[in-house]
Amino acid sequence: MIDNASNFILEAHNVVRRFGAFLAVDDVSFAVKRGSVHALIGPNGAGKTTFFNVLSKFLQPSSGRIVFDGEDISRTEPSLVARRGLVRSFQISAVFQTMTVLENVKVALQSARGNSFDFWESGKILNRYDQRARELLELVGLTDRADVLASQLAYGRKRSLEIATTLALEPKMLLLDEPTAGMGTEDIDRMIALIRQVAKGKTVLMVEHNLSVVSSLSDQISVLARGKLIASGDYNSVANDPLVKKAYMGSGHA
Ligand SMILES: Nc1ncnc2c1ncn2[C@@H]1O[C@H](COP(=O)(O)OP(=O)(O)OP(=O)(O)O)[C@@H](O)[C@H]1O
Ligand SMILES: [Mg+2]
Repeated sequence: MIDNASNFILEAHNVVRRFGAFLAVDDVSFAVKRGSVHALIGPNGAGKTTFFNVLSKFLQPSSGRIVFDGEDISRTEPSLVARRGLVRSFQISAVFQTMTVLENVKVALQSARGNSFDFWESGKILNRYDQRARELLELVGLTDRADVLASQLAYGRKRSLEIATTLALEPKMLLLDEPTAGMGTEDIDRMIALIRQVAKGKTVLMVEHNLSVVSSLSDQISVLARGKLIASGDYNSVANDPLVKKAYMGSGHA
């Protein structure tokens, strides 16, 4: 499966993650094509979030190898992985509720440039990030909310702000864990459009339960069940795979 490394921005080779004796990720090998939108699906408890955390190095793999953009990151610290351009959505996106939407993005830009945020630092220093921050807000459709306190944003808009703060790191690849979870139809449609926009020139790997979101965005889909990768392919081949049907049966997900 993994035959031409340059085509793939991310590769997992025989990745295992144990919690005690429990195998949450069980010998998973897969590869994500550069520039694609790749979805990771599977029933609850399949190991998707654990696998995401291992890929972004928030959790160390118990064994196996992870290669990002040609470099072995199996033993690399998560902050360094992010600097190399592989960014998990919550990484710097803990939204500061008491700051405005614009300030949140400026702070993210500042920390992305290597400075940890100093609450005492003068607003003037943050102002050098004003233009880029406004560009990112434009991209995620929050220009008209720039001066609103983050705490006052509706839930769907907060998730868009999270995407903006994540993009502040200028990632080559984004890992999004359930970007439409808890959203109504209107916010879901907006998030689909946003991910499609963001995906231009980047690679996106997302965990997503909503199969209509998956089918409208994904070039490739991989299915995890009980820690194992049971299928990989385009939407139709995965949806018609008997192993996938069996895994979803009785799981509460159609
Ligand atoms: N820190 C941990 N310690 C022990 N077990 C854990 C830990 N994190 C996850 N697990 C277990 O690993 C399994 C996979 O969990 P994970 O959260 O990765 O699943 P998931 O596919 O993301 O599920 P969901 O769709 O519900 O988000 C579950 O059985 C979970 O209880
Ligand atoms: Mg999860």
